[in-house]
Amino acid sequence: MRSQAALAHALIGVKVINLLIAKHEYLRSSVATCARPIGFMLDPANQCHLGCPSCVNSYNTKVVESNYNKWPRGLMSRETFGTFLREVGLYAFSGAFYNNHEPLLNRHTPEFLGLTSDLHVRTFISSNLSFRRIDAEEIVASGLTELMVAADGVSQDVYERYRRGGKIEWVLENARAIAEAKRRLKSRTPIMRWQYLTFEHNVHEIERALQLAREIGFDSFNLATPNEVSFDDPSIECVNYSGQKSFELRPREFLAFSRDLEPHRAMIEKALEESAADRRLRETGGHDGVTRRVSGAIGCIWPSFRMPWGALCRAATRTTKTTGDLCWPISRLPMAT
Ligand SMILES: C[S@@+](CC[C@H](N)C(=O)[O-])C[C@H]1O[C@@H](n2cnc3c(N)ncnc32)[C@H](O)[C@@H]1O
Ligand code: SF4
Repeated sequence: MRSQAALAHALIGVKVINLLIAKHEYLRSSVATCARPIGFMLDPANQCHLGCPSCVNSYNTKVVESNYNKWPRGLMSRETFGTFLREVGLYAFSGAFYNNHEPLLNRHTPEFLGLTSDLHVRTFISSNLSFRRIDAEEIVASGLTELMVAADGVSQDVYERYRRGGKIEWVLENARAIAEAKRRLKSRTPIMRWQYLTFEHNVHEIERALQLAREIGFDSFNLATPNEVSFDDPSIECVNYSGQKSFELRPREFLAFSRDLEPHRAMIEKALEESAADRRLRETGGHDGVTRRVSGAIGCIWPSFRMPWGALCRAATRTTKTTGDLCWPISRLPMAT
């Protein structure tokens, strides 16, 4: 137990030192950097079994060939992932296991998530969940922090207008199985979010989807405006929905500090309240009115203090075996936006 705690603290120490080096290099606009990434985005599978219009995996091969680079299909091996984990995972605070493809196509993905969670990295995936069968318990037990389920309709004919090749029945069954596995394993994670892209053909099913999200046990339901898809399928119209777009369906978790951190609660909560954007403004131009040059240009936002605090809280909670007690309010966690 003690050695587990010592290991966790050493790990967090490594991450924080790397974070400080990264910050130093960032402020100096260093061209040559030695810090490792503090977060990552990785596709464990280089393919998808669905073919949504406009996606790199669209069934419309002409559109894909003229708009995207050609890459061979593949699945990340355990060996490659092991190397990646040593090179990047050790130093990172968060990791997204999806980008352009379908993460659960790789049968090793839950194992990858588990190994990454053990390094106190917060993990995310977005999945179409359109599989005949998944191992829900394996996914929950992996420690995955957040699962976004992408489904844009509730009846098969509406759903498959965009999610071509998908089966809404399987998606809902799998979401239910994960919610049940969470209850069985008494796990608060993965936080389950339903993402619903709004198109002209599916807005009439939003109410029913929201109702289903509640029934199944999703933590949130979010409507998102899709990027243009008409270059692939001119019959599909994107909609910027004018009603409420975000619904928190279950009460948020509050911080449960370990005994070691309890005396610092006020300071931690104060740091949590500061937004990454405000902090960046202060650091890059704020108080003296002089805007410093920021390397990385547009879109690079320096993460706030919350990141190391989050990791520290997680480490303390995991090692003091108050597990099951997620000590971090997920929805307030900063992402380097
Ligand atoms: C390319 S997908 C890969 C992950 C997974 N296959 C999925 O669909 O969730 C990554 C994210 O892009 C979203 N997405 C798909 N089509 C989109 C579009 N036209 N505009 C904006 N986001 C889109 C998906 O819903 C998903 O959350
Ligand atoms: S499910 Fe995701 S990866 Fe697959 S085609 Fe659709 S958007 Fe692309």
